[in-house]
Amino acid sequence: MGIEIRTPTEDDVAAMVRIAGIAFGTMWKPEEFERVRPTIELDRFRIAVDGTEVVGVSGSFAFETTLPGGASLPTGGVTWVAVLVTHRRQGILRRMLDELHDDIDARGEPLAALTASEGSIYERFGYGIASHDRSIEIDRRRARLRADLRPRPGSVHLIEGDGRPDVLADRWERGRRTRPGEISRSDAWHRRLIAERGDSAVYAVHDHGYAAWKLTEHWNEGLPQHELRLYELIAATPEAHLDLWATVLAVDLVGPIRSGNVPLDDPLPYLLDDHRVVRTTSVNDGLWLNVRDVPACFGARTYGTDDDMVVEADGVRWRVGSSGCTKVRSRPDLVGDGASLSSLLLGGVRPSALVAGRRLEARSSEAVRRADALFTASPLPHNQTGF
Ligand SMILES: CC(C)(COP(=O)(O)OP(=O)(O)OC[C@H]1O[C@@H](n2cnc3c(N)ncnc32)[C@H](O)[C@@H]1OP(=O)(O)O)[C@@H](O)C(=O)NCCC(=O)NCCS
Repeated sequence: MGIEIRTPTEDDVAAMVRIAGIAFGTMWKPEEFERVRPTIELDRFRIAVDGTEVVGVSGSFAFETTLPGGASLPTGGVTWVAVLVTHRRQGILRRMLDELHDDIDARGEPLAALTASEGSIYERFGYGIASHDRSIEIDRRRARLRADLRPRPGSVHLIEGDGRPDVLADRWERGRRTRPGEISRSDAWHRRLIAERGDSAVYAVHDHGYAAWKLTEHWNEGLPQHELRLYELIAATPEAHLDLWATVLAVDLVGPIRSGNVPLDDPLPYLLDDHRVVRTTSVNDGLWLNVRDVPACFGARTYGTDDDMVVEADGVRWRVGSSGCTKVRSRPDLVGDGASLSSLLLGGVRPSALVAGRRLEARSSEAVRRADALFTASPLPHNQTGF
């Protein structure tokens, strides 16, 4: 009997949790899954069933993604993708993704997004790298703010996360609109994050942002070197960014500050006496995008210049730029596929790098120069929500 792909019902949820646990290595306890369940819309999921056994799971979350310029685009955030080892490489992922994409299209969401467990899976499905994740480590004892900078005293106060999710939600929503690639979070999502981090998480709130972290004790025989793990820091203004970082850097007993959530172009190093104290320990692909509706996506972002250019993706030509995005027949300046076009949406991947890396072809070196100026965004895109 063949494998059936279908929408799950409540009766399938336990099997879905089991498959994700087997595939990713962490089996949720029932009380842990209770926190996750409110974020899941079952009709956005597709499972693969062999006889009576569920052998594959996949789904999407509904959220919005910030584009360069601040517009916010409905997005299907692909998630929970797993196929049992007994059924791998039989085309089950491909069939589930086809159905998820049909569902995302039917809902009128012009964009699909994901974060990838491995870098080699998703390009064949039209996903291109659109932002980068960076991990940093700061030796707090060597990190000093420049003496001429004056964080505003009293601008930051600590709150209990589970007491005021609305305060965090408000700061998140304003902050995430200031950086391309950041995504919206539902109330259920905020409550889930707060519950998963538990009582030991500390929330420092500013009028225009917040920081969340956790300490792990390392008493080090009298010379304390606690680790401060920064979950996230979101700031809608440069003042909030300064005041929140001043607070994080001031936490006593801390040796290393570690975070996987600091954008590549974060101004933090320039705020310090010694910029080298902020060490980058890894850079990886972050958000992967699959542009499903080209005019809706590229017509909603802003551009670095008043130019526009013709980009051909999978044989279809689009005039893209400050005048919007329309289908044309003109000779293309850039030629690539859906994945490379998707890499250009957030402005975090330079067209010149894609050309040099043979992912895009350019008509001329002048076209490459124009494309870099047109597509590259400031600030750079970044996503600090795992999904
Ligand atoms: C990744 C996973 C879902 C693939 O499922 P699958 O049903 O075996 O995939 P398919 O058979 O549909 O493969 C479709 C295509 O993707 C390729 N592919 C699948 N997994 C791949 C991987 N890990 N690396 C590179 N290519 C991969 C296949 O070779 C195939 O390519 P082709 O169509 O060009 O021949 C499965 O291996 C899995 O559950 N892995 C562990 C969990 C995980 O990493 N999930 C992804 C989370 S983002």
